[in-house]
Amino acid sequence: MVDDSTIKEVRDRFRAPGKVVVLTGAGVSAESGVPTFRGKEGLWHNYKAEDLATPEAFLRDPALVWQWYAWRRDLIRAVVPNPAHYTLAAMERLLDDFTLITQNVDGLHAIAGSRNILELHGNIWRTRCTLCGRVYEDRERDLSELPYCEYGSCDGLLRPDIVWFGESLNETVINQAYATSQDADTFLVVGTSSVVQPAASLAGVAKQSGAYIIEINIDPTPLTGIVDAILTGPAGKVLPKLVMTK
Ligand code: OAD
Repeated sequence: MVDDSTIKEVRDRFRAPGKVVVLTGAGVSAESGVPTFRGKEGLWHNYKAEDLATPEAFLRDPALVWQWYAWRRDLIRAVVPNPAHYTLAAMERLLDDFTLITQNVDGLHAIAGSRNILELHGNIWRTRCTLCGRVYEDRERDLSELPYCEYGSCDGLLRPDIVWFGESLNETVINQAYATSQDADTFLVVGTSSVVQPAASLAGVAKQSGAYIIEINIDPTPLTGIVDAILTGPAGKVLPKLVMTK
């Protein structure tokens, strides 16, 4: 439940000068129709991450992994951003110092108009060569057959440019995420179960540096105990209340 006094307190925080950092997870795209990962309806309830989202799975059966990512691309291609994405894009335009960190790979924040985005887990619309490392922005690539690198004579197998279980995050991106979290005056966590590291530790880093922490989620998470304000409810309903109204 979202009470008016918490809404007012949080709104005042955003209006005060200072650095605002937002961390988003799959819950932000749930109202667009993109399935989350955990919970009864989550992808990891019906599919095994170790068969689909690990480097070992890709070595074992790249066609199966690509089939799954092609299915997810089709699903995401058919959806549009929701008010949560649009509100975060509006916040970036309205606030002087605003950074968006996302665990989502769906690209919906950018479609909604966010520009300053740190994508911790990669992007489903990019592929990367397993041999030469070349990255392709290839939203329209035909994935009915295994994709291969077209650079010179490389011909290496392409993989989704996504961070899989057991892999390290891009060092530059995670270092920026830590640095910006450490500098945050206000840190908002939206729609993440806060169980996947290192993303889950960013709010703690901000808290230790004295930031005010806000969580928006439909359910409690391991983070809920340490936050300063809890706004319980769907992100697409709660977020617009924070900035779009008087
Ligand atoms: P999860 O599926 O673990 O968590 C989604 C969170 O969103 C849960 O806490 C839900 O309660 C919440 N939620 C669902 N609908 C919501 C809504 N409408 N409004 C607000 N909150 C809502 O997703 P993540 O925390 O993002 O990794 O998962 C982290 C990572 O684990 C993902 O990036 C993915 C996955 O394995 C990779 O793909 C590399």
